[in-house]
Amino acid sequence: MRDMYLSWPSQIRNALGSWGGYAAKRRHDSVLIVGMGGSGIVGDYVAALAMQLGGPSVAVIKSHLLPRNAGDDALVISVSYSGNTHETIIATKEAIERGLETVIVSSGGYLKALAEKRGLLHVPLPPGLAPRASLPSMLFSVLGLLDASGMSVVSKGVAEGALQFLEGSVADIAKKGDEIAEWIWRAGGLLTIATHSPLDPLAIRAKNEFNENSKVIAKVDVAPEWMHNDIVGYEGPLPVSPAVIELIDPGDEVGRKLVEFMEKIYLSVNGKVLRVELLGDNLLEKMLYGSLLLGIASCRLAELRGVDPLETRGIKEYKGFASAVFKV
Ligand code: F6R
Repeated sequence: MRDMYLSWPSQIRNALGSWGGYAAKRRHDSVLIVGMGGSGIVGDYVAALAMQLGGPSVAVIKSHLLPRNAGDDALVISVSYSGNTHETIIATKEAIERGLETVIVSSGGYLKALAEKRGLLHVPLPPGLAPRASLPSMLFSVLGLLDASGMSVVSKGVAEGALQFLEGSVADIAKKGDEIAEWIWRAGGLLTIATHSPLDPLAIRAKNEFNENSKVIAKVDVAPEWMHNDIVGYEGPLPVSPAVIELIDPGDEVGRKLVEFMEKIYLSVNGKVLRVELLGDNLLEKMLYGSLLLGIASCRLAELRGVDPLETRGIKEYKGFASAVFKV
């Protein structure tokens, strides 16, 4: 599993090799990115990048329900690593029925066959990976598709810069990721990923990684929204103290101050905190840095806990149940 994470630079290089090779039929006003779990998070990353760097308005659908108000002009991008996820298939079929231009990003599966049958654009992903470990392949495929379709969020030059950055940082990230896992292992308590907007997707992704790889429950706290609800929960007697990984963008003074405010409250309830500053020159690089760092940490924590990071028994069990609930 760890090796799949260490292969991220080569995943980006491969995706850059086909950058510009896949384009929608035309430019659209808005984009709907449909997907679940490790594939769905790609939509959150693209939406966060578009909000900060500019680009089309992006809505993310993590459900079998396609919003009724999805405009006729939206481009639908369905992302499913396996191509077999029920919710994604149902929402995608609905998009096709409604006549929305739909592009499928998958390594194969039902959705690839559907693309072939319905004459839709299919963007292939490299096979043989765990969906969550193929984040760069999926993310750069979608960013490349948008760039080639006149709805650029990230240019090829910025994407190449991110590759260079990650290539130069992998060894350091792997070492730091192991240290973070060892800190979590010693800290005990409720693992909490605290951050400030616009890094919400990174914190959610990190939580998911600790759930799936390390088999632990984890919580996400995002400032400033945290100050308007969660904060009050820390006033009562706590069933368990938090062990908090703070993710901070060092270039964001307001974000740093907000997380420092949260930190005082964590410490007041006997919480433990570990501050992590995200390296990189722009939001894309910082999100990749944080994603790889916490992906590696989640693998090392799995090792310390004596569990297999690759195996996701609960998800498999759910997918069996889903095939009886959802009719595709
Ligand atoms: C991540 C993972 C899950 C899947 C999710 C959807 O590694 O295993 O979160 O991403 O169950 O499946 P796919 O990505 O195949 O559509």
